[in-house]
Amino acid sequence: MAGLVVAMDGPSGSGKSSVSRGVARALGLRYLDTGAMYRAMTWWMLQQGVDLADPAAIAARCGEPRIVSGTDPDGPTIHVDDVDVAGPIRETEVTGAVSAVAAVPEVRVRLVALQREIIGAGDIVVEGRDIGSVVCPDAPVKVYLTASPEARAQRRSAELAGTTAEAQQEAMARRDTLDSTRKTDPLSMAAGAVEVDTTALTLEEVIAEVLRLVKERT
Ligand code: DC
Repeated sequence: MAGLVVAMDGPSGSGKSSVSRGVARALGLRYLDTGAMYRAMTWWMLQQGVDLADPAAIAARCGEPRIVSGTDPDGPTIHVDDVDVAGPIRETEVTGAVSAVAAVPEVRVRLVALQREIIGAGDIVVEGRDIGSVVCPDAPVKVYLTASPEARAQRRSAELAGTTAEAQQEAMARRDTLDSTRKTDPLSMAAGAVEVDTTALTLEEVIAEVLRLVKERT
């Protein structure tokens, strides 16, 4: 795969989105949020009334929605069949269901192919769970962001009104377990990735650390 790809993997609440967008902005690169694509697929399945407890039903329909991701770090967009779903994909219904959809191998094959198409079009920062390990194993820069469970839950509850840090921590732990124990492409640290623990760092410090890595490796 030609060009500069910065692969940014890690669990939810580790700071991936803010860091990825900051790095893309600083370097004038595009930005792709692959989690948004799994969320968009999940939103469509819910709209269609597909039984999400039935992986075969999900697999049978996952080729149907047309998912289009914009790659501007200042205003990332996501559309499903021309419907703007940027808002609905962040709601609790989708968040609670996305792990089940993301665990279906046929869904992953389809979305990974879409992701590779976008990545192939030029330099980019890509955030997800399997970017350095599966989507783009030859990315020159691979970062694995972590943070303590408390810090991750705190960040998420600050983003979402009406939830406590404790409730967030529980929901997140459930999702992480599903994401890291699924059979196909589980969340894991890729070979050659550099782990950055963001617990005690400010956003600016994490971005600076990633920019240093990019400089060192390119
Ligand atoms: O990063 P996020 O919370 O928006 O991700 C939503 C879900 O999608 C999450 O439960 C894990 C899954 N996901 C995945 O399996 N592979 C990716 N590359 C990105 C996200």
